[in-house]
Amino acid sequence: MSTTTIHVCTTCRAPGETLEPREARAGFRLWRSLQRHAVAGEVVINPVECLSVCKRPCTVALSAPGKWTYVYGDLVAETATAIILAGAALYGAAPDGIVAWRSRPDALKRGVVARLPPLEPEPSA
Ligand code: FES
Repeated sequence: MSTTTIHVCTTCRAPGETLEPREARAGFRLWRSLQRHAVAGEVVINPVECLSVCKRPCTVALSAPGKWTYVYGDLVAETATAIILAGAALYGAAPDGIVAWRSRPDALKRGVVARLPPLEPEPSA
Protein backbone atom coordinates (compact mmCIF):
# COMPACT_ATOMS: atom_id res chain seq x y z
CA MET A 1 0.00 0.00 0.00
CA SER A 2 1.36 3.45 -0.90
CA THR A 3 1.88 6.17 1.67
CA THR A 4 -0.58 9.04 1.70
CA THR A 5 0.81 12.54 1.46
CA ILE A 6 -1.12 15.42 2.98
CA HIS A 7 -0.11 18.62 1.22
CA VAL A 8 -0.91 21.58 3.46
CA CYS A 9 -1.01 25.14 2.26
CA THR A 10 0.97 27.07 4.86
CA THR A 11 0.16 30.45 3.36
CA CYS A 12 -3.64 30.30 3.67
CA ARG A 13 -5.03 33.11 5.80
CA ALA A 14 -8.30 33.04 7.68
CA PRO A 15 -10.55 36.08 7.14
CA GLY A 16 -9.03 39.13 8.83
CA GLU A 17 -5.55 37.66 9.26
CA THR A 18 -2.60 39.78 8.22
CA LEU A 19 0.19 38.73 5.85
CA GLU A 20 2.82 38.79 8.58
CA PRO A 21 3.98 37.04 10.55
CA ARG A 22 3.64 34.06 8.26
CA GLU A 23 3.86 31.67 11.22
CA ALA A 24 0.61 33.12 12.54
CA ARG A 25 -1.39 32.32 9.43
CA ALA A 26 -4.14 29.72 9.70
CA GLY A 27 -2.51 27.45 7.11
CA PHE A 28 0.80 27.53 8.95
CA ARG A 29 -0.92 26.71 12.25
CA LEU A 30 -2.78 23.84 10.58
CA TRP A 31 0.49 22.46 9.17
CA ARG A 32 2.14 22.58 12.60
CA SER A 33 -0.85 20.86 14.19
CA LEU A 34 -0.81 18.09 11.57
CA GLN A 35 2.91 17.63 12.17
CA ARG A 36 2.28 17.20 15.88
CA HIS A 37 -0.62 14.76 15.55
CA ALA A 38 0.20 12.63 12.51
CA VAL A 39 1.57 9.16 13.18
CA ALA A 40 4.95 8.71 11.54
CA GLY A 41 4.85 6.11 8.80
CA GLU A 42 1.11 6.46 8.22
CA VAL A 43 1.16 9.76 6.35
CA VAL A 44 3.65 12.30 5.08
CA ILE A 45 2.90 15.93 5.89
CA ASN A 46 4.12 18.15 3.08
CA PRO A 47 4.02 21.94 3.50
CA VAL A 48 3.34 23.87 0.29
CA GLU A 49 2.86 27.53 -0.52
CA CYS A 50 -0.54 27.92 -2.16
CA LEU A 51 -2.73 25.32 -3.80
CA SER A 52 -4.61 28.04 -5.76
CA VAL A 53 -7.69 27.73 -3.58
CA CYS A 54 -6.95 30.96 -1.72
CA LYS A 55 -10.59 32.03 -1.42
CA ARG A 56 -11.44 28.89 0.57
CA PRO A 57 -8.85 28.66 3.39
CA CYS A 58 -7.53 26.46 4.83
CA THR A 59 -6.64 24.13 1.99
CA VAL A 60 -5.07 20.68 1.80
CA ALA A 61 -4.65 17.97 -0.83
CA LEU A 62 -4.38 14.20 -0.39
CA SER A 63 -2.32 12.21 -2.86
CA ALA A 64 -0.55 8.88 -3.25
CA PRO A 65 1.08 7.09 -6.18
CA GLY A 66 -1.50 5.50 -8.46
CA LYS A 67 -4.45 7.14 -6.69
CA TRP A 68 -6.79 10.00 -7.37
CA THR A 69 -5.73 13.27 -5.74
CA TYR A 70 -8.31 15.20 -3.73
CA VAL A 71 -8.18 18.92 -2.92
CA TYR A 72 -10.18 20.25 0.05
CA GLY A 73 -10.84 23.78 1.27
CA ASP A 74 -12.91 25.61 3.90
CA LEU A 75 -11.04 23.87 6.72
CA VAL A 76 -10.74 25.63 10.08
CA ALA A 77 -7.20 25.49 11.45
CA GLU A 78 -8.30 24.95 15.03
CA THR A 79 -10.61 22.01 14.32
CA ALA A 80 -9.45 20.41 11.07
CA THR A 81 -6.51 18.27 12.18
CA ALA A 82 -8.50 15.26 13.37
CA ILE A 83 -10.85 15.56 10.39
CA ILE A 84 -7.99 15.60 7.90
CA LEU A 85 -6.21 12.67 9.56
CA ALA A 86 -9.45 10.67 9.59
CA GLY A 87 -9.97 11.46 5.92
CA ALA A 88 -6.38 10.50 5.14
CA ALA A 89 -6.85 7.14 6.88
CA LEU A 90 -9.93 6.43 4.74
CA TYR A 91 -8.07 7.59 1.65
CA GLY A 92 -5.11 5.37 2.50
CA ALA A 93 -7.38 2.34 2.81
CA ALA A 94 -9.02 2.94 -0.57
CA PRO A 95 -7.06 1.23 -3.37
CA ASP A 96 -7.79 4.02 -5.86
CA GLY A 97 -8.12 6.83 -3.30
CA ILE A 98 -11.85 7.19 -3.85
CA VAL A 99 -13.69 7.19 -0.52
CA ALA A 100 -17.45 6.68 -0.61
CA TRP A 101 -19.26 9.99 -0.11
CA ARG A 102 -21.27 8.74 2.85
CA SER A 103 -18.07 7.64 4.61
CA ARG A 104 -16.29 10.99 4.39
CA PRO A 105 -16.18 13.38 7.34
CA ASP A 106 -18.76 16.16 6.83
CA ALA A 107 -16.13 18.88 6.46
CA LEU A 108 -14.56 16.92 3.62
CA LYS A 109 -17.95 16.46 1.94
CA ARG A 110 -18.57 20.22 2.06
CA GLY A 111 -15.01 21.26 1.37
CA VAL A 112 -14.13 19.19 -1.67
CA VAL A 113 -12.73 21.45 -4.38
CA ALA A 114 -11.44 19.02 -6.99
CA ARG A 115 -10.24 15.54 -7.67
CA LEU A 116 -7.56 14.74 -10.19
CA PRO A 117 -6.90 11.38 -11.87
CA PRO A 118 -3.85 9.33 -11.02
CA LEU A 119 -0.76 10.23 -12.95
CA GLU A 120 0.04 7.70 -15.61
CA PRO A 121 3.58 6.49 -16.09
CA GLU A 122 5.47 8.18 -18.91
CA PRO A 123 5.00 6.27 -22.18
CA SER A 124 8.19 4.57 -23.23
CA ALA A 125 9.87 6.02 -26.31
S1 FES B 1 -2.80 30.75 -0.04
FE1 FES B 1 -3.61 28.77 0.48
S2 FES B 1 -4.41 28.06 -1.38
FE2 FES B 1 -3.49 29.96 -1.93
